[in-house]
Amino acid sequence: MYKVGLTGGIGSGKSVVADLFKQLSVPVIDADVIAHALVAPKQIALQRIIDVFGVEVLTATGELNRAILREIIFNDPVKKTLLEQIMHPLIYAEIDAQVSTLQAPYVMIAIPLLIETKMQSFVQHILVVDCPVALQIQRVKSRDKLNDSQIMAIINSQVSRAERLSQADSIIDNTQSLAGLEQQVHRLHAKFLKQRQ
Ligand SMILES: Nc1ncnc2c1ncn2[C@@H]1O[C@H](COP(=O)(O)OP(=O)(O)O)[C@@H](O)[C@H]1O
Ligand SMILES: [Mg+2]
Repeated sequence: MYKVGLTGGIGSGKSVVADLFKQLSVPVIDADVIAHALVAPKQIALQRIIDVFGVEVLTATGELNRAILREIIFNDPVKKTLLEQIMHPLIYAEIDAQVSTLQAPYVMIAIPLLIETKMQSFVQHILVVDCPVALQIQRVKSRDKLNDSQIMAIINSQVSRAERLSQADSIIDNTQSLAGLEQQVHRLHAKFLKQRQ
């Protein structure tokens, strides 16, 4: 199956673009949704996280306490790597398992950290959603309860806009209206239908 990796910085418009492809009946797999499901109670990923980080990362009801885990890895790059070593292979294996059940000309896989995790070769085509950092900040601010410095911290933890664009096979310019976005998605859809494997 021809795998298109949809990536972009926080607030660039990945979810909006993914929805537009869904409207064209393209199967969309979301790496974030998979990551979430993998740490549900009784899942192997959660057990491995407990083995490494201890039961302190659980809530009273036995669920993963994301806020505590986020804080731990934010302050400790070694632990961040440990968590990634648990999660990334499981996430990519689950994506492939889901892909293998699909029958479609191509699949769109939303992977926010595709480039950060150096998994470019996992997909046949890298589709980057792009807009200036100022617009990312503005959009995230109206979507989430985050202030400028919190948003900048996330943006700075991701690859730079220039680096991401340099890795792109196709780019969606999301500086304009949603109508313009739809037009670009339709053009790309026609292209991906021709490139199917
Ligand atoms: N072209 C656009 N015009 C207006 N609002 C937009 C546009 N693109 C995205 N948005 C809004 O900006 C926010 C961020 O977009 P989203 O798709 O959630 O980004 P991402 O998934 O990349 O973090 C959302 O609230 C979305 O509705
Ligand atoms: Mg999103």
